[in-house]
Amino acid sequence: MDQKKFEIALNDLNLGHLLYLESTTSTNEIATKWVGEGVSNYSLIAANEQTHGRGRVGRKWITNPGTSLAFSLIIHPKIGPDYISRYTGLGALAVSDAIINMGIEGVKIKFPNDVLIHNQKVCGILTEAIWHGNDLKAIILGIGINLTKDSLPGDSVLNFPATYLEAHTSTPVDRLNLLHEVLVCTLQREKTIDTTNFISAWNNRLAFLGQKVSITLLNTLKNSNKKEPEIIEGIHKGINQDGEMQIELVDGKIICYPANEIQILR
Ligand code: BTN
Repeated sequence: MDQKKFEIALNDLNLGHLLYLESTTSTNEIATKWVGEGVSNYSLIAANEQTHGRGRVGRKWITNPGTSLAFSLIIHPKIGPDYISRYTGLGALAVSDAIINMGIEGVKIKFPNDVLIHNQKVCGILTEAIWHGNDLKAIILGIGINLTKDSLPGDSVLNFPATYLEAHTSTPVDRLNLLHEVLVCTLQREKTIDTTNFISAWNNRLAFLGQKVSITLLNTLKNSNKKEPEIIEGIHKGINQDGEMQIELVDGKIICYPANEIQILR
């Protein structure tokens, strides 16, 4: 891939500013700077390598050269901040759409936005909201998809079993075609983001729905002086209209958690 091929391949999508880099720290980091500079809607940065890729919950995300599709899309939301949590699901729905369109089976979303193939993580998404005071300036959708075996980090770094796309298809994956497809699906899904159908689509694709799950309550670390976060178990009851995960505890009580407060362990 190079800048010219990148621009030609995405030309039909009417995106904003486009940048392809051989190596960078983190595409989300560049996207954040761009938002500060007032970049146009649907501007996009992709990189072959990230030296300081960012993951959820302050984790690192490793992007070795030539192994992955790593990019950040800047979205100026057309709807109010009430729907902000839905942007978390947008990327996961779009990536899973694109993978399903390749004919791959067993594609699910681990709430909030990891994409799994047969219960192994193939894609991580870091959604960051940029605020100026009370104004939601932009959403950055940072997406990393594992394509080849060398995209996988070592076992010591993994906190959930991982896989890569080429393990599930007999043809090599063309990164530009895949990027184009994910973007088409993102723009398509975004049109319905304020509808109940959007939440239904997210629910229909959830992994572990109706099953017993263990979840880490990330806020328990911030709100106390505990060293380990609290873990609870319950039945995964899907997502409500506020984009929160509903868990049924053993006593039948249902608790709702926003995406940024939990992590499903399984
Ligand atoms: C996670 O599963 O923890 C989220 C990983 C998100 C990784 C992507 S790769 C492109 C973009 N740039 C980053 O620094 N992170 C995201």
